[in-house]
Amino acid sequence: MEACLIIAANFKMHFTPQKLAAFAATLADNLDSRLQILLFPNTACLAQLPSCPVRWGAQNAYPAQNGAFSGEIGAEVLDALQIQTLLIGHSERRALGETQEFCAQKCRFYAELGYTLVYCIGESQKIRSSGQESVRAFLDSQLQDIPLDYPKLILAYEPIWAIGTQAASIEQIAQTHADIKALCRARGCAPQLLYGGSVKPNNAREILALDDVNGVLVGSAALVVADFVQIMQAGLQTL
Ligand code: PGA
Repeated sequence: MEACLIIAANFKMHFTPQKLAAFAATLADNLDSRLQILLFPNTACLAQLPSCPVRWGAQNAYPAQNGAFSGEIGAEVLDALQIQTLLIGHSERRALGETQEFCAQKCRFYAELGYTLVYCIGESQKIRSSGQESVRAFLDSQLQDIPLDYPKLILAYEPIWAIGTQAASIEQIAQTHADIKALCRARGCAPQLLYGGSVKPNNAREILALDDVNGVLVGSAALVVADFVQIMQAGLQTL
């Protein structure tokens, strides 16, 4: 059966393999076929993933099979680890210097290889304070050269100012998701669209109930498995 909602977790630099195993053991008891669960642990954990029937992905990868790229991971190793899912363009990676062109290159490289991609976009506080039209134009620029027609591409709208702070308002999320969907439609595409930025057990239901929200990408609230499970349950209540 088709999953109706995507609930993703980005563990960033948190969680040792042992802590991840404990998380996965509790999660396994709470899975539901109406939810597609995507988990992005840190790279070292990918080599010893717990057995849990979710989709595991890498938080980053270099657009090459292998080569002289110190500190990076490429497709050859990911394939060997049976990882076929990738987070691309997270604002924390962009803040480290990843350009739009490089993010687009990664999307195209891994789309060629058939990976499932979660591609993140999102504006700064400065752009947000200039109004919705500036936000729309900026997000449009982040869709530049991205293979939006690739069937395994999922977009995640993560306003930078809402990450690790306070979620965008329901009105802001509804408006911006509608804008992003319209930008995609104008290119003849309709990728699924997640919201990320301070999603918590107490706001997940309202966010997930929005028409143009196909799921959420959770950061800090995923560090406590009970909170993540509550977010999953909130999602189920909206179906
Ligand atoms: P947050 O992180 O839920 O802690 O705001 C979300 C993210 O960065 O993906």
